[in-house]
Parts: sequence; structure tokens; C-alpha cells
Amino acid sequence: MRVLGIETSCDETGLAIVDDKQGLLAHVLHSQTDLHAAYGGVVPELASRDHLHKLPLLLEQLLNETGQVLSDLDAIAYTAGPGLVGALLTGVGMAQGVAWSLGLPALEVHHLEGHLLVPMLENPDLEWPFLALLVSGGHTMLVDVQAMGEYRILGSTLDDAAGEAFDKTAKMMGLPYPGGPELARLAEQGNETAFAFTRPMVDRPGLDFSFSGLKTQVWTCFRQQVPEQALMKDMAASFQKTVVDTLRIKCRRAMQESGHKRLVIAGGVGANRKLRTGLSEDAEKHGWQVFFPSQVFCTDNGAMIAYAGLLRLMAGQSAAQEVRALPRWSLESIQPL
Ligand code: KG4
Ligand code: ZN
Repeated sequence: MRVLGIETSCDETGLAIVDDKQGLLAHVLHSQTDLHAAYGGVVPELASRDHLHKLPLLLEQLLNETGQVLSDLDAIAYTAGPGLVGALLTGVGMAQGVAWSLGLPALEVHHLEGHLLVPMLENPDLEWPFLALLVSGGHTMLVDVQAMGEYRILGSTLDDAAGEAFDKTAKMMGLPYPGGPELARLAEQGNETAFAFTRPMVDRPGLDFSFSGLKTQVWTCFRQQVPEQALMKDMAASFQKTVVDTLRIKCRRAMQESGHKRLVIAGGVGANRKLRTGLSEDAEKHGWQVFFPSQVFCTDNGAMIAYAGLLRLMAGQSAAQEVRALPRWSLESIQPL
């Protein structure tokens, strides 16, 4: 079975074809970072227009790379939500149109389910059940994954997501867009013990997060210190350490409370080097297995949608009954097939 996946929920246009026997045949990705850089954030209308422009070009490129024709496919999977409604609609329209013209099923995929499942595409050893730390620009959550479609959110952020905290703090410090990876790069050169920022909510029981106060702590410090380059690096390193320590503490707590032995990291912040090394150390110390997707599959991509679509097709999911885009869509509302 062979599925084309289409991702357009935010500012990446991603397409991929996944085969049940051969795995990922190819994926193509266009990031709109340069388009939005002048505005310091994603401009939804520009995002939609760019997706519309790139989708047919990327589909052609993908088919050329794989040597496939559309009639080789068994289904078209697409991100139906959550995300920016206009951006989602471009992918929904493309997927539904191509599927209709070929008489194939068009399958709805939840964006976060794509992030949660893509580590399995790369790691054949990974099996459910597992605990997932989903850390992206829009979400920070600990999810108990029993099987496909059986997700229970154990904790989530009460305000800013971890990636959002990286992005907003970077912007405050005057770093170029997109801020998160830029801040992480600066942090590599700084002293992470230079500033003692408070790790939010680690002294309270529970698995929720809160990152907006940390951003304010850095802002206050930034204004007081009249920062020079060296101090900026130290501030970035201390901020990064605080976020990473907080995520590690909550992961340790969640692993202990849930009894899981496998930890999966998903979402854009999963690309953070300090988080990866920290969690790998924790895994070794506590005897868990930890799985990270490769950097390109941490951030948004088409492969995660094609893969989730393939698993859903094999599990018997039928074609979407409605043509719809869901800007808000709870992960826990998904039902097992
Ligand atoms: O999963 P993703 O591509 O998009 C969402 O669905 O949100 O994640 C993007 C987020 C951004 O907030 C970005 O700043 C963050 O991931 N990010 C990083 C790093 N690379 C990307 N944050 C910290 N360190 C990084 N190396
Ligand atoms: Zn995402």
C-alpha cells in the first residue's frame, strides 16, 4: 500500500510518499521562513497563498523523484487540523481534488498524531505503548500513547508552548526570525549557570507546564543588564537550560508515574541538542529507551502525515465524509479504529 501525505498546517509545505513495505519513498519540503522573516512571525494569508503556489510544484517534484505516477497510490492523506484555517484549506483542497480525480480515498490526519507516530517510521524497534513528549511551537504536552488513536494527555502547557517561549524570548533579545533555533545556536556559546532563572512549576505536583513567566524573567534581566554580546550568550544559555531542565524533570516524573519504559520526543523543539543529550542521559540512568526523530522529521513535514495516513488506511480508516479544515481539534477526541 502506498500513501501520499500532504502537510500545510502552518508555514511548511510538505509532501511525501510512504509504502507499507519499502517505508519512505521520498519527501519534499518547502519552508516559508524567508517569506515571513520580514514580519517577525507567520502571516496567515501569505502562508496560504504560498502553499497554493508550491503544492503543485512540489507534487510534481515528488513524483519525479520517486518515479511514481498518481495511479500507483492507494490513498491521499492530509492534515485536516489543527492549524491555520486558510493554510489547512489549501492542503485539504489539493488532497480532496487529487483523490476525487483518481477515485482514491482522501484520509484526514491530525497534525499532532503525525508528530507522535513519525518516530516509528524511522525506528522499526519502537513499539507502543510509550510516553511522548510533544514539544513544538504550538504545543507542549506529555501524552500516554497506548496505540494508534489511543492518546491521553497527562500534562500540557497552561500558557506558552516551549517552542513559543524560545521564539518570543529570541525576538525580545533582537535575534533574527525564526528565533528558536537561533537562540539555541547562541546558547551553545554561553555559560548556562550565569543567570538563575526559576524553573516553572517544578515544585508543584502534576505534569503541566507554564513558560510565559520565564519569558518575562528573561525580559526583565535583559532590560536591566544592558546586554553585551557575551551576556546575551549567557542569557540564552541560562534560558535554554531552564527550559530543558523543566522538560527533563516533567519527563522523569511522567515516566515514573506512568510506568512506561519508552520515551518518544516529537515536535520542533525535539531538534534541540541540549534537550536530546539531557534526555539521553536520563534514559541511560533510568533504564528507559528514548527515541528522537531525525531533525528534519521533528519539525513539520509531509512524511509524518503520509505515515500516519498509511497506518490509518491499514487499520481500516475510510475516506473523509466531509471536506473540512479544523483549526482546533483535540488530540484526545480521536477514536481508535
Ligand atoms: O513542530 P514545529 O515545526 O511546528 C509546530 O507545529 O509548532 O515546531 C516549530 C518550533 C518553533 O517554535 C521553533 O522555534 C522550535 O520548534 N525549534 C527549536 C529548535 N528548532 C526548532 N527550539 C529550540 N531549539 C531548537 N534547536
Ligand atoms: Zn507541528
